[in-house]
Amino acid sequence: MAIAIKPWPDRATRESFPVLSQRVHDHPLVYLDNAATTQKPQCVMDAMNQFYQADNSNIHRGVHELSERSTRHYEEARIKAQRFINAGDWREIVFVRGVTEGINLVAYTFGRRHIHEGDEIVISAMEHHSNIVPWQILCEEKNAVLRIAPINQRGELLLDEFENLLTLRTKLVSVVHVSNALGTVNPVAEITSIAHRHGVPVFIDGAQAVAHMKVDVQALDCDFYSLSGHKMFGPTGIGVLYGKTSWLNQMPPYQGGGDMIRSVTFAKTTYNELPYKFEAGTPNIAGTIGLGAAIDYINGIGLDRIAAYEQELLAYATAQLERIPGLRIIGTAREKAGVISFVLEGVHPHDVGTILDREGVAVRTGHHCAQPVLEWFGVPATTRASLAFYNTRADIDALTAGLAKVKEIFA
Ligand SMILES: Cc1ncc(COP(=O)(O)O)c(C=O)c1O
Repeated sequence: MAIAIKPWPDRATRESFPVLSQRVHDHPLVYLDNAATTQKPQCVMDAMNQFYQADNSNIHRGVHELSERSTRHYEEARIKAQRFINAGDWREIVFVRGVTEGINLVAYTFGRRHIHEGDEIVISAMEHHSNIVPWQILCEEKNAVLRIAPINQRGELLLDEFENLLTLRTKLVSVVHVSNALGTVNPVAEITSIAHRHGVPVFIDGAQAVAHMKVDVQALDCDFYSLSGHKMFGPTGIGVLYGKTSWLNQMPPYQGGGDMIRSVTFAKTTYNELPYKFEAGTPNIAGTIGLGAAIDYINGIGLDRIAAYEQELLAYATAQLERIPGLRIIGTAREKAGVISFVLEGVHPHDVGTILDREGVAVRTGHHCAQPVLEWFGVPATTRASLAFYNTRADIDALTAGLAKVKEIFA
């Protein structure tokens, strides 16, 4: 008996993202800017509204019912985040604003404690500015050195050359899991294992990974991992820094203020236990609850299913775009996620993006906060289409039809 395979994403799934059903410039919206930020399902907005409508109160300090509820929901989100990336302990989940803050936190705290004059930090040539600039600031302050692991023409990290950079002076490796500019999926387990062989801890920037593939920080054995809620169907202004307890315990606090203290006198302050030592001040409570709802939502679909579908859609999109004369894809790694950066001969990416917008197709153009890697490829900017599981082949067809228009106009 033939089994009917249900089309995916089905209508109900698409409809759970209200923003997707609108028209833009008189065309149905085709949203292909998911690497910049993802859309939010209704359940995420509902969870945040519910918090403000029914439970709004500050956390950790009230004895009243509302505060107890807020605290419970906030801490439940931490457990959800712990399970989502399979951290061994809930104390290893620090809520931050996003990956940028996660990296800055480690640069300021781990960096302050462990980086000294002449020490070296290794990053890759394909990093987002968020994983470059905090280390540059730290290196400048400490007279330390930032080393860059090179990539090949496909946009893949050269593992041998990466390993050659590791010396007795290397104190940290920080690499991106999935490149937002190229789509490259880095072999982060292997990178971590190589770095650990040299006694060097590893930070992984997971901004573009967690909504598209299963991440297990214990299996990766990385020392730090960071994610942003808004890139995984959650709200802006909330993210997670995962750190192994052994490192977090050694690190000084990031910011001083409420919640991160155990006791304060004018003579001396002692700090709270993990993870609160790193969560100064009233946090983004509603955002944290929204992140928890986004995790539930992703789990409800299943990351295996999402990953398989996106790979299929990426293959389709790549094949369609490769057929367009004069179009060159920047970033052709063998392991790729749903990011397609490209240049179109004779047309500035900004013009490509503007014409696509008139067709209702939202893509990103520019340097994608990854100027060094675009410079390495010899292009100042690209057009970038980035996928999420709610995109369809029809979205890709709208993109290629839009590109045909671009070519017509610039013919
Ligand atoms: C690879 C990568 N790292 C870091 C970031 C910064 O994330 P956020 O702006 O959420 O802090 C981004 C955002 O685009 C990214 O793509």
